[in-house]
Amino acid sequence: ARRSLHQFTDVLVIGAGIAGLRAALEIPQDLSVLVATKDRITESNSAYAQGGIAGVRSPEDRFENHVEDTMVAGDGLCDREVVELVVREGPTQIDLLVNWDTHFDLENGTLALTREGGHSHRRIVHALGDATGHEVMRAVIARAQTAPNVVLWDDTFTIDLLTDNGACVGAVVWRPGVGKILVWAKQVILASGGCGMVYRETTNPPVATGDGMAAAYRAGAELRDMEFMQFHPTVLYVAGSARYLISEAVRGEGAYLRDVHGERFMLKDDPRAELAPRDVVSRAIFRTMERTQHPNVYLDLSHLDPALVSTRFPGISRVCRQFGLDITKDKVPVRPGAHYMVGGVTVDSHGRTTLPNLWAAGEVTSSGLHGANRLASNSLLEGLVFGAVCGRGAAEASRRMPDSFRAPLLRSATVTDDPGGHLDVADVTNALRGLMVRKMGIVREKGRLDEATQDVKFWCRYVLAREFDTRAGWELQNLLTVARLMLDAAARREESRGTHFRSDFPKRDDDHWARHLSSPRREALT
Ligand code: SIN
Repeated sequence: ARRSLHQFTDVLVIGAGIAGLRAALEIPQDLSVLVATKDRITESNSAYAQGGIAGVRSPEDRFENHVEDTMVAGDGLCDREVVELVVREGPTQIDLLVNWDTHFDLENGTLALTREGGHSHRRIVHALGDATGHEVMRAVIARAQTAPNVVLWDDTFTIDLLTDNGACVGAVVWRPGVGKILVWAKQVILASGGCGMVYRETTNPPVATGDGMAAAYRAGAELRDMEFMQFHPTVLYVAGSARYLISEAVRGEGAYLRDVHGERFMLKDDPRAELAPRDVVSRAIFRTMERTQHPNVYLDLSHLDPALVSTRFPGISRVCRQFGLDITKDKVPVRPGAHYMVGGVTVDSHGRTTLPNLWAAGEVTSSGLHGANRLASNSLLEGLVFGAVCGRGAAEASRRMPDSFRAPLLRSATVTDDPGGHLDVADVTNALRGLMVRKMGIVREKGRLDEATQDVKFWCRYVLAREFDTRAGWELQNLLTVARLMLDAAARREESRGTHFRSDFPKRDDDHWARHLSSPRREALT
């Protein structure tokens, strides 16, 4: 008979990006915290952030401006109360990171501030030029590693959340060399990040497979706004290179976008030109690629001071040099790629999900901050603010639970109808990622969405029924679940808003759609 190992903790945090570790670090030291992350602890989407963290710091700027810019980008779906909470907390969270030994870039002795699309003022702090996430995570990981009450488990895949009597009570995790472990927790904080890997072209690292979204969905938590996948306008497009992000800060410092004929096409598209919000820029690039029948457009930095370009963007310079491109002189080929899932597990302003005892923070959530489109450099900020809020809330809730907390009796395991036989997981994964680019990309339309839904449903029939014992298999199940929810939402929202553009409904329709869209429950998803 199979034996299960059991582990008890006051708080279980799933995910070790900025939101998860910030949550863990908010929990008082007399409570035990277990942080589970499926890869190495350094491998989170947060660590890949280039641009920075937005926060009102300059004397010319005001909280109201940051709130307004966030609301404009969010295209009518932001929750003002949440936006104000996050914006007002911004400077404090940045100061905290400085106290934790994060070395942000300085200018004349104070934090240097840059601009990105949709920001009316310079308000983005950055580090190591274009490797902000790397530096921030270095400092936060170091802090977490020395916290006496925090245990970090890397290489730990969360297969599913555990529920009892309609509340979350922990998670089933898997560790190499150990197998399945039942982690029983008084409170659980989900901070497992996004799902960019559902697309073939993405700025996200391979870990971003929507595991937390899918697990929360299976456990019965509400998800919403899954149609809003944000595409970053400028991803390096060179045969043989990974789809490397070229930070929006490059345009913030004055770079131009040009089509294959050298024309600055953004000038006639939007008064904010290259610094329009990224949904606007991504769609303009898409149209330009169609008009010119060319697979990419170009970033041009050749009119900027070469010394500034090299010191400000050392990482981007290095990667481009590997492909023979000198960014101070050569035009850099770019095209949009999937970047950030705006929708996710619904949380209130305390970080509570609809499943009791389950909290969530960061990209895995839909908190109301981003509306229908996230403003650049608001995501590390959200992770910090909501991480802290969740940590505080989960700690208090955990204290209210009796210490006699015991593992409930497990009901019989989920009955699966495993069809057996060989399944080429990589093949289905690649097919799904290509399909999403073709049919659920920047421009959508009912016919193509329906076709994609049929394909995904078909794959779900034989993939979701299997009982895998590999990370790739569980990830494929999660990617399919997330894709299914995204397609369902995109087909239902018959308007265009934020990152969601329907060529058959090209206008924003406030009469019918100025609202969030909840994902159907599992039994209703036909
Ligand atoms: C970037 O550096 O362009 C990414 C910033 C962000 O996505 O917030």
